[in-house]
Amino acid sequence: MKPVISGAKALLLGAALGLAACGEAPQSAEERAAIIAAAETRVPDDPILAEKYERACQACHADPENTAPLSGDSRAWTSRLEARGADGLLQSTLNGFEGMPPLGACPDCGMDDFKKLIAFMAGDTK
Ligand code: HEC
Repeated sequence: MKPVISGAKALLLGAALGLAACGEAPQSAEERAAIIAAAETRVPDDPILAEKYERACQACHADPENTAPLSGDSRAWTSRLEARGADGLLQSTLNGFEGMPPLGACPDCGMDDFKKLIAFMAGDTK
């Protein structure tokens, strides 16, 4: 356990609370279970992208025990998108971010792959 909440986490928490204050109901246990079940099975349609996703991103982004936002959990991704924008999320992936290693542990992923993988995990595409 970390004794203090990091600046980035405080920011995210602020963003999440901001959303909740705008009238969004808190996530129920059923919703959470459905999101976890979906995260564990969903992969991109494109087989080349799917291979990269399964080799790199999936280990953390489909593991509910990890602090990574779950694949397909659009609410978790919305607060991040609002805080940093699509380009900010790309930069976080390239540079590494908190528990995430640089390049999301995918050294052979190109810029286009990262954009597609992020969009996929954020729930936009399949
Ligand atoms: C070793 C585990 C791990 C792997 C592998 C991993 N991630 Fe992450 N990722 C994380 C964690 C943990 C976070 C959340 C960090 C935080 O906010 O504390 C995260 C957050 C992110 C974010 C949000 C960054 C932000 O600014 O909020 C993006 C985008 C992302 N990951 C993309 C990817 C992509 C794309 C891949 C595969 C190419 C990948 N990740 C692989 C652990 C991982």
